[in-house]
Amino acid sequence: MARSALLNVMVQAALKAGKSLSRDFGEVQNLQVSVKGPSDFVSQADLKAEKIVREELLKARPTYGFLGEESEEIQGTDGAHRWIVDPLDGTTNFLHGIPQFAVSIALERNGEVVAGVVFNPATDELFTAERGGGAFLNDRRLRVAVRRVLSDCVVGSGVPHLGRGNHGKFLVELRHVMGEVAGVRRLGAAALDLAYVAAGRFDGFWETDLSPWDMAAGMVLIREAGGFVSDMKGSSDIFDSGSIVAGNEYVQKALLEVTNRPVPTR
Ligand code: IPD
Ligand code: CA
Ligand code: CA
Repeated sequence: MARSALLNVMVQAALKAGKSLSRDFGEVQNLQVSVKGPSDFVSQADLKAEKIVREELLKARPTYGFLGEESEEIQGTDGAHRWIVDPLDGTTNFLHGIPQFAVSIALERNGEVVAGVVFNPATDELFTAERGGGAFLNDRRLRVAVRRVLSDCVVGSGVPHLGRGNHGKFLVELRHVMGEVAGVRRLGAAALDLAYVAAGRFDGFWETDLSPWDMAAGMVLIREAGGFVSDMKGSSDIFDSGSIVAGNEYVQKALLEVTNRPVPTR
């Protein structure tokens, strides 16, 4: 599989940050049993990973903008390009010693995401995609799942929690979705969840209250694997709305309809 120079830069940055996270993940497992717990240590791991990604990307393309979860946005002198980075997606999993987390790096060109990398160092799974070049898991070409009816489908989502999201609205969505599908999963790292849709592991996915760095890389992975994404209203303003519905042509449409059903009266 031939990767462009840009995608290579992204992959190298993800691998380097992944190495650092991997080391720190080992330490988190020790800290679970300490009195202080691993919280402060995890924030440091997160910041360290973003610093690594940022340095790698800006070294290779000093004029590009940079939007990362953990630092001030850099407006590049090149108005067309922007990196969108979540150095550690799945922080709660990481903190609890659950090996479901990732580094997510995307490249936006003129407002469109054109390349994405999602790397889970705990499983050594590297998801990559470039517009027009297909999506890959390590060296294997990816396609979204082919199931057409929700009753056969396993779909992922994100569950709001203490201090986050609209609990009532989510319960209505879930109530409608769970009555239609073969299973619902909450794995806890949105960037990886979207990569799983690209890989055909999830037939579909929906979540609200996300940020661009949670979704950018996953969006291009899904599109390049033949899938579709929109926001919860069916529009392409995914970053503005912070919501996403994904799947193949059939599942994406069906999930959109089901998650938008009104509050049941009984
Ligand atoms: C979170 C994860 C999680 C999603 C949250 C995100 P973080 O990102 O992607 O799955 O449900 O809304 O904020 O905080 O671990 O980078
Ligand atoms: Ca995130
Ligand atoms: Ca994060």
